[in-house]
Amino acid sequence: MGNRRPLIAGNWKMFKTSEEAAATAKEIVRLVLDVKNTDVLISPPFTSISLVREIIRESSVLLAAQNLYWEKEGAFTGEISPAMLVSAGCTHVIIGHSERRAYFGETDETVNKKINAAILNNLIPIFCVGESDEDRELNKTFSVLDKQVENGLKGLALTDAADIVLAYEPVWAIGTGKTATGDQAQEVHAYLRGLLEKKYGAFFADSLRILYGGSVNLNNIASLMEMPDIDGALIGGASLDPGTFSKIASFK
Ligand code: PGA
Repeated sequence: MGNRRPLIAGNWKMFKTSEEAAATAKEIVRLVLDVKNTDVLISPPFTSISLVREIIRESSVLLAAQNLYWEKEGAFTGEISPAMLVSAGCTHVIIGHSERRAYFGETDETVNKKINAAILNNLIPIFCVGESDEDRELNKTFSVLDKQVENGLKGLALTDAADIVLAYEPVWAIGTGKTATGDQAQEVHAYLRGLLEKKYGAFFADSLRILYGGSVNLNNIASLMEMPDIDGALIGGASLDPGTFSKIASFK
């Protein structure tokens, strides 16, 4: 077993105005003061990143963006570069979330470019993979994950597991209230760790943090975190309320 520090990450998606984001971040900073030995991260919309950064500056709360564009700069209206995220205070960036794949045309290829750009700019990508309902029913879970991992990490010579976080997010569990059971998620996490071991070796795989995401809430966090290969959670809906999120962050 690796000595992996848990990571509890809140993905705010397209929720919260700047005022709401500031108020939420303030509450979170206060409420997670007692959370020790766990990394706590929040991912506000682009418009609130700088503001939230000022609020969490003196705290241990980490900051992520929800997306980036891989080019350094240029005429790409509406896009945000890795360097812009770094200068706005982000240390992490969520890449390849299934909502981006489903609604905004992201493919394994664009995900790969984004992961590459993040790493080159010292941003830690939280790389999301996950099968759909249909994939699971057709017993294609592992082959779909193989492809997502293989293509998403293509050409990346990773040596330090601290440079990346993997998130297993079964599409059928996101925002649906249907969570994978601890055993279901554990089976996939162990499989993913095995895949990364083949690619980057045992030490890397053993140190890599793999988060579970999909309808994580106060009732299921403990049973998920009990699993040996689940190192944390990526939380959507239940991360919007600071009280709930901070309780999830102290799952023990
Ligand atoms: P959810 O979202 O917790 O609302 O299911 C999870 C995610 O999309 O990361």
